[in-house]
Amino acid sequence: MNQSIIYFTRTGDTKTKALKLGKETGATAYQLKDDENWQGPMGLLKGLWLSLINKKMTIKLDDEALKADQLVIMSPLWLSGPAPAVKTLLDSTTHENILLVITNHASPIDGVLKKYRAKYASVKKCYGITINKNNAEEVLEQLKKDMA
Ligand SMILES: Cc1cc2nc3c(=O)[nH]c(=O)nc-3n(C[C@H](O)[C@H](O)[C@H](O)COP(=O)(O)O)c2cc1C
Repeated sequence: MNQSIIYFTRTGDTKTKALKLGKETGATAYQLKDDENWQGPMGLLKGLWLSLINKKMTIKLDDEALKADQLVIMSPLWLSGPAPAVKTLLDSTTHENILLVITNHASPIDGVLKKYRAKYASVKKCYGITINKNNAEEVLEQLKKDMA
């Protein structure tokens, strides 16, 4: 089975983890983008607002990313779920084998992981990497086992 890693990032944290996972597994990492400028305090406010209203985004992703047998989709937590571009991708893809990784700063994340596992039949497993828990290594190790 081969995998693609698809990540969205605003400040680089999720990107760092996605590239590390790619390096360690040989899976290609692709950046998911949308047409918003997320930089600075205005970007943060916009992110909060567009997450709250569940905005559907115009997303940009290399077609090759979706051709793998399994997708590892990585997103920062924005309020109560993945960033809007990632929600849009999850809503629109017909891919049936997805591992979803949510990165966040501090808030308890188990409820979010449960919710997204239940919401999409395509999402086979959810993982939470929380900076304050310092659990990145442990979660990435588990993920690598699950990707094998
Ligand atoms: C709009 C927005 C909402 C966020 N909401 C939360 C949150 O509810 N709980 C939390 O712990 N972190 C929250 N964060 C922080 C990010 O999830 C966290 O910093 C993440 O590691 C950033 O990943 P990135 O650098 O790849 O963008 C939020 C960040 C943004 C921009």
